[in-house]
Amino acid sequence: MVLHGPNLNLLGKREPHFYGSDSLEAVNEAIRSTAREEGLEVEILQSNHEGELVDAIQRFSSWADALVINPGAFSHTSVAVRDAISATGIPTIEVHLSNIYKREEFRRHSFVSAVAVGQISGFGKQSYILGVKAASWLLKESEGLA
Ligand code: DQA
Repeated sequence: MVLHGPNLNLLGKREPHFYGSDSLEAVNEAIRSTAREEGLEVEILQSNHEGELVDAIQRFSSWADALVINPGAFSHTSVAVRDAISATGIPTIEVHLSNIYKREEFRRHSFVSAVAVGQISGFGKQSYILGVKAASWLLKESEGLA
């Protein structure tokens, strides 16, 4: 499953120098096409609400094998999103369009990183594509196929 956090519905219009000019739908299309190439089923959800993201992680973790998440601003604030990932134990790849370490000080810490398998940050739309490929690799590795 792929989750997009707050304000990512504004992609394309929102600070394109940080987040690129692709709309969320264009990013989702790239995610779907990468998932198809990798032979994965994908469910995608965007929410501006912390509790909805927590609910989605709990709900999806009963069937999803991996989570690719851009928690947006909740990366830097949300113990609840972090705890949902930790509680469900779902293998998680954290992605960011921008390189959060190159930006303001408050963006340089993510609560999610400590419970993620790894993080991809700074490659724009490609961060998601690499995230889906990383999820695919993780699944193959866990099945002894990588
Ligand atoms: C972001 C980086 C966050 O700091 C910011 O709040 C976002 C987007 C990114 O994809 O670069 O909403 O997660």
